[in-house]
Formats: sequence, C-alpha cells, structure tokens
Amino acid sequence: MRSSLVNLLLCICLLNLSKSEKLTFKNVTVRWRHNYKKGETVATSDSLKKIIPDDERVSVEIPGSIPILYEKSVFDIPNLKSLDLYDVSLQEIKPGAFGNLPHLKWISLRKNNLTEIKTNTFSDQKITYLDLSFNSIIVLHRGAFKNFNANLLLLANNKLTEFPSGVFENVTIRSLILADNLLHTIAPKALSTIALKRLTLSNNIFDEINPESFDMQQLVALFLNSNLVKLLRPGDLRNLPELKKLWLAVNDLEEIPEGVFNNTKLTVLNLNLNKIAKIASEAFDDMPVLIELHIDSNNLTQWDNNWLKGAKSLVQISVSENQIAEIPDEAFKNYPRMMTIDLHGSYIRNISVKGFDNLDYVDHLDLTYNEIDNWSPDLLGNVSIGRLDLTGNKLQCVEGDLKTIFRNVEYTILRENPWNEDCVKKIEEFVNNSKQYVPEDDD
Ligand SMILES: *[C@@H]1O[C@H](CO)[C@@H](O)[C@H](O)[C@H]1NC(C)=O
Ligand SMILES: *[C@@H]1O[C@H](CO)[C@@H](O)[C@H](O)[C@H]1NC(C)=O
Ligand SMILES: *[C@@H]1O[C@H](CO)[C@@H](O)[C@H](O)[C@H]1NC(C)=O
Ligand SMILES: *[C@@H]1O[C@H](CO)[C@@H](O)[C@H](O)[C@H]1NC(C)=O
Ligand SMILES: *[C@@H]1O[C@H](CO)[C@@H](O)[C@H](O)[C@H]1NC(C)=O
Ligand SMILES: *[C@@H]1O[C@H](CO)[C@@H](O)[C@H](O)[C@H]1NC(C)=O
Ligand SMILES: *[C@@H]1O[C@H](CO)[C@@H](O)[C@H](O)[C@H]1NC(C)=O
Ligand SMILES: *[C@@H]1O[C@H](CO)[C@@H](O)[C@H](O)[C@H]1NC(C)=O
Repeated sequence: MRSSLVNLLLCICLLNLSKSEKLTFKNVTVRWRHNYKKGETVATSDSLKKIIPDDERVSVEIPGSIPILYEKSVFDIPNLKSLDLYDVSLQEIKPGAFGNLPHLKWISLRKNNLTEIKTNTFSDQKITYLDLSFNSIIVLHRGAFKNFNANLLLLANNKLTEFPSGVFENVTIRSLILADNLLHTIAPKALSTIALKRLTLSNNIFDEINPESFDMQQLVALFLNSNLVKLLRPGDLRNLPELKKLWLAVNDLEEIPEGVFNNTKLTVLNLNLNKIAKIASEAFDDMPVLIELHIDSNNLTQWDNNWLKGAKSLVQISVSENQIAEIPDEAFKNYPRMMTIDLHGSYIRNISVKGFDNLDYVDHLDLTYNEIDNWSPDLLGNVSIGRLDLTGNKLQCVEGDLKTIFRNVEYTILRENPWNEDCVKKIEEFVNNSKQYVPEDDD
C-alpha cells in the first residue's frame, strides 16, 4: 500500500524539493473519488501520500494554481484512473509531463491557459477521454498526440485557425470536437488516418467543404453549423462515403445544385437558417436512405414537386419559415407516407386542389401560421392524417360538411382563424364533437 502512495506522490509532486521552481504544485487541496466533497489540503508531498488510497483505481482532482506541468509531473502512477486539472491557470505542459500511467483513461485540462500542445505531450496507450477545451490553443505540434485510442478528444473553445497535418501519430479517435475555434481549413488528410466517426466543427469559419480536407472514410456525423459555407459543389462529399448525418445550419448557402448529395448514405440533412432561395429539382435525388430533411428558415419561394425522387426512406420534411406562397399539384408525390410534413410560417396562401394528390398518409401535417384563406372541400381527398394543424391561418369559413371533409383526420386543429359570424358556430360544433389533441410536453 505504502509503495503505491509513494509513487503517486513522486509523480504528482515530482521533484526534487530542493529545486522548488520545478515544483508542479504545493499546498493544494487534492480530491479523489469517494472523497470528492471533502478534499484534503496537501502542504507537501509527504502529507499527500498519507491521504490517497492506493488499493484501488483513483480519480484525482487537483484545484488551485498550477502554471506549468514539468516533465514527469504525472508519472508512473499505476493506480491513477482519471486526472482533473480543471481551471488551474495552466499555461504550459512540458513534453513528457505525463507518462507511465497504465490505467489513466480520463484527463481534463478544461479551462486553462494553454496556447500550444507540444510534440509528445500526450502519448499514452489508455487515454479514452481528453478534454482540452476552453484554453487558448493556437498551435498543435506534429506528434502532439501519439499511440492511443480515444473515444473523445475535446478541443472546443480554443484559438485554432487551421488544423495542420501530422498532429496525430498512431492515434484513433471516435469523436473529435473542434467547435468554437477560428478554423477555416484542415490540412489535406490531416484527419484521414484517425478513423474518426464524429467531427464537430460548429462555430468556425469554414467557407467550403473541401474534399481534400474532408477525407474521412469512416466519418458518420459531421457538424458544420454556424460556419460561412457559401456553396456546395458536386463531389464535395466524395471522400465521406459513410456519412449519415450532416448539419449545415446557420451558414451562407443560397443555392443547392444537383449532384451534391447524390448517392450518399445520408439519413439526416439539416440546412436550416441559411439563405437558400433555389434548390435544383434533382438536388435530393438518389438519396435512398434519407430519413429527415430540414430546410427551415431559408428563402425558398417555391415548392418543387419533383424534389426527392427516389427518397424511399424519407419520413420527415420540414420547410417552415420560408416564403412558399403556393403549394402546387401533387406537391408530395415522391414521398407518399410521412411522419411529419412541417410547413409552418411559410406564407402559404394557395394550396392547389390537387396539392395532396398521391399522398397517402401523414402523421403530422403542420400548416400553422400561414396565409391560407381558402380550404376546398375536396382538398384532402382520401389522405389519411393523424394531426392536421391549421392554427393561425386566414380562414373565414370552410365550405361543406366538416365531418366529411376531415373524415380521415384524427385531430383537426382550427384555432386562431378569423371565422366569420355565419361560420363560427359550425366550426365550434365540429370542434366540440371532435377528438381533441392534447399536446405532449415536448411538443
Ligand atoms: C496554503 O494555502 C492556504 C490558502 O489556500 C494558505 O492560507 C496557507 O498559508 C498556505 N500554506 C502554506 C504553507 O503555504
Ligand atoms: C487565463 O485565462 C483566463 C480566462 O481565459 C484569464 O482570465 C486569465 O487572466 C488567464 N491567466 C493567465 C495567467 O494568463
Ligand atoms: C500504436 O498504438 C497502440 C496503442 O493504441 C500500440 O499498442 C502500438 O504499439 C502502437 N504502434 C506503434 C507502431 O507505435
Ligand atoms: C447522380 O447520380 C445518378 C446515379 O448515379 C447519376 O445518373 C447522375 O448523373 C448523378 N448526378 C450528378 C450531378 O452527379
Ligand atoms: C432572405 O430572406 C430574408 C428575410 O426575408 C431577407 O432579409 C434576405 O434579404 C433574403 N436574402 C436573400 C439572399 O435572398
Ligand atoms: C392564389 O390565390 C389568389 C387569391 O385567392 C388567387 O387570386 C390566385 O389566382 C391563386 N393562384 C393560383 C395559382 O391558384
Ligand atoms: C377515396 O376513397 C373512396 C372510397 O374508397 C373512393 O371511392 C374514391 O375514389 C377515392 N377518392 C380518391 C380521390 O382517390
Ligand atoms: C362548444 O363548447 C363550448 C364549451 O364547452 C360551449 O360554450 C359552446 O356553446 C359549444 N358550441 C357549440 C356550437 O356547441
């Protein structure tokens, strides 16, 4: 028992007390699992060894001020499992600060003042989680990360402007978080060798998806929200053959041409909050496994009934908050059975009498807060609808027998329309005798 404690002490406190300038820390409160709340103040390495148990894997949390981690700061501690150096004003890690830590899996260096990660800083075969977010990192040196196989590497909220090549040597990382940096480019193939599955680049300044950089053969999910991507070209995704989820919300896209998503394995595509005014008729063709398409809050003025040819897996399309004035004939013919069609707030005024032709079933059809002022009795035909929501339109009346018109609708919601005096009683009666939809909390 003792000997392990001695190890721990040697390591964390490194030194050579005579050279006190090389002391990594002194007089700090150390906490470890089972005793996190209390903590113990450690004046010197001698007292530290008395308080850390050595008979099990330990998670150590060291607060206070630790400006520099010198070589072998955390070294040769067989029972150390996790190390938390959160917000300790750390400015520098000397190469070799960490080593001989056969069970160290989890390291947090979140919220410190690191500006670079030097060659050979993180070389450990067991690291599965490494948090370097909320620092001021500008440079990642060649070989900064070596020989490990991590689930998660967090580098969010730093000051990286580019991701250079050679940073990783013999490393695999499932999920890499680079959100909230100043990245505009990734060096060609810099992330190609780490078997990445998820990459988060939200809140950076990429203006394109360059296929030389975005060459990640195993990537499944790419988050590029809040960047400056202005255009997508056919072939941009050609080196992302396994990509299933692509988020491009809050970018500067104005147009979606044909062939960008052609024959991809995308199941979720999110294009919300761009400035998309034009989408080629064929833009979403050949996407046989697409399940969800989101184009909310864009500048579309037209609905194209040729979109999504062959999208046989589609169950959700949401194009709310655009300016689509009109729903044309057979608007949804390419995806006849849907969970959700969301067209709320899109300035829709006219729906063609044939608008819903060739649509079989929609669980939730959201047409709320549009400008619909006319609902033809034949409009729905035999479409079967779980919930048809017409709240907040401009309907003054619906001609004909409402029970017949909405016969295949389970819940018809007709709130906030300017019913005229002659019609209001009819509407009320229908509503009073219909099943009422009770929204769930998360609705
Ligand atoms: C240790 O730190 C505490 C405050 O954190 C301080 O009051 C005390 O004087 C320090 N002791 C030594 C020996 O530096
Ligand atoms: C460390 O960073 C914090 C916030 O990022 C800042 O307030 C503090 O002044 C920095 N400290 C040093 C020593 O640079
Ligand atoms: C690569 O890293 C693994 C640990 O993830 C290690 O077992 C292996 O020896 C390393 N290979 C080389 C060539 O360094
Ligand atoms: C999209 O893929 C289809 C089928 O592979 C092909 O016929 C078509 O030319 C492609 N379009 C573009 C723009 O690449
Ligand atoms: C998109 O629509 C917004 C809001 O209606 C408008 O302010 C903006 O000028 C439009 N942008 C383009 C590129 O059409
Ligand atoms: C759309 O509705 C307006 C007003 O009801 C009507 O004047 C116009 O002809 C309609 N347009 C089409 C294409 O149906
Ligand atoms: C709707 O269903 C009825 C009864 O099954 C059928 O007679 C009618 O032709 C159908 N209407 C349309 C537009 O398909
Ligand atoms: C509908 O129900 C409300 C509240 O129960 C009632 O005040 C109203 O008279 C009913 N309207 C009709 C037309 O049945």
